[in-house]
Amino acid sequence: MLSSTPIRPGSRPRTLAAAALLGLLAVFFLPAGPADASAPLRQHAAARGKFIGTALATGPLSNETQYRNIAATEFNQITAENAMKWDATEPNQGQFNFSGADTIVNFATQNNQQVHGHTLVWHNQTPGWVQGLGATAMRSAMQNHISQVVGRYADNAAVVSWDVVNEVFEENGNLRSSFWYNTLGQSYIADAFRYARAADPDARLCINDYNVEGINAKSTAMYNLVRSLREQNVPVDCVGFQSHLAIQYGFPSDLRQNLERFAALGVQVRITEVDIRMQMPRSSSKDTTQANYYRDVIQACLAVNACAGVTIWGFTDRHSWVPDTFSGEGAALIYDENYQQKPSYTAVHNALDGGTPSDTTPPTTPGTPVASNVTGSSATLTWSASTDSGGSGLAGYNVYREQGTTDPQLGQSSTNSINLTGLSADTQYQVYVRARDGAGNLSSPSSAVTFTTTGGGGPSGPCTATGTVQTQWGNGYVIQPVTVTNSGSSAINGWTVTFTLPAGHSVTGSWNATLTTSGQTVTAKSMGYNGNLGPSASTSFGFQVSRPNGNTQTVSGYTCASP
Ligand code: XIL
Repeated sequence: MLSSTPIRPGSRPRTLAAAALLGLLAVFFLPAGPADASAPLRQHAAARGKFIGTALATGPLSNETQYRNIAATEFNQITAENAMKWDATEPNQGQFNFSGADTIVNFATQNNQQVHGHTLVWHNQTPGWVQGLGATAMRSAMQNHISQVVGRYADNAAVVSWDVVNEVFEENGNLRSSFWYNTLGQSYIADAFRYARAADPDARLCINDYNVEGINAKSTAMYNLVRSLREQNVPVDCVGFQSHLAIQYGFPSDLRQNLERFAALGVQVRITEVDIRMQMPRSSSKDTTQANYYRDVIQACLAVNACAGVTIWGFTDRHSWVPDTFSGEGAALIYDENYQQKPSYTAVHNALDGGTPSDTTPPTTPGTPVASNVTGSSATLTWSASTDSGGSGLAGYNVYREQGTTDPQLGQSSTNSINLTGLSADTQYQVYVRARDGAGNLSSPSSAVTFTTTGGGGPSGPCTATGTVQTQWGNGYVIQPVTVTNSGSSAINGWTVTFTLPAGHSVTGSWNATLTTSGQTVTAKSMGYNGNLGPSASTSFGFQVSRPNGNTQTVSGYTCASP
């Protein structure tokens, strides 16, 4: 949160939000068993541990009672259809307008609904003043926008997640040549996530796109980007699949499989904007096909533990972007223009209702892992298996590194063994395991195993390190790159850079090196892939630091040693 933000109407510190939180808990987690057959969608979704959401527009929200009532009754998650976009929140540089965004957030708070913030960095609905900026000014405008918009709701219990970047890909999987990409290059994506994490360390941060529901060039590019960002410790927590479908183009039958491959990267997945349009006029057979598509979307999400829920892009055909956008098409939602439920409503309802009671019993605690085959960059761990009695069955294990603060996940395995790769040379690791069941319950952590990777076995020699402040703001800064150079006349295998943080500063993220902190001393070690440097060769890493408001110091002075 930014303590410099003066007032936040509609926001309360999380710790003081006990009453609202109890309401939220009641709505999201009760009842534990199946909901009554005639219950609203949100009650069935909650019984399955999922959200069912809708996008809301501020116009009908203030003008139409039926719109308000259905939105409040049927859904437990809300996305602003337009009110949180850049052109609405910062139409002129530095002039923020949160009236529409606050309206949405306050409505959600009153109705015990969670809000997904949409969207911070997009090539559409972004004012001309942003698009015309040069690189340095554009990056700092992006940073300021993210910190103001996310910061405003950082302490608001309703706002739990954000679309940080939206639609960054072309259909062929290339990065979209938007003004963002053309001005800043690919790094704008990682920067946007880091800025968002700095503005609200608790929010779930998502990348969102369309035509990525099935396995295709675009979704595979998304998969590779998310994997590589996470390997660099860029805080990407979640992937949104918009799912603007049309019955005449067929259903992406590999949707579930696609969600599962993303889930295996360790991210949450969610259906963020589903609507299912048809060529007008409506007919009962088109309605039936549409209902089946809605059913299949809901079932795909229900089948994947990491899928948090489904947001429908509006709910009534009276207010839908489809007829304005796709000529001759419409009727894409689950209520008609007169607020009557359509077959697609029944399909969503029945899909959510069709389930077994949820499993809340975690698996037993796994045995202490045993390390073997330890090299300079990898190790094999094996442990005795857990069992699960809650009904959903044992699904696998998550493997974590013990670090004192938030323990990073090193990997996932479906068996009681894992081969960890990408480790840093000559580094001590304490690693533990938690078992996971089919309903997503996690066991208690196992005891940790401690092992130290080898020095890589290669030669050592002199090296140098220099750091550059890439960007800074009131209470933080990014050092990128720290350039590490082999200053000797023979190759080195592995490097260690040490530096001292000014008092009150702490590291909030890093990439391309493994950082450990002791007091104010930080040790950065090479990764498996960037430790080998020939004579005069260089590589780099980066990190982000938070500091007290008003403090202007940054890190300076780096010492390099090998390995
Ligand atoms: C749409 C809104 O529904 C329209 O009202 C607006 O005119 C244009 O944007 N992908 C997204 C959404 O991420 O923000 C878009 O919403 C639909 C496509």
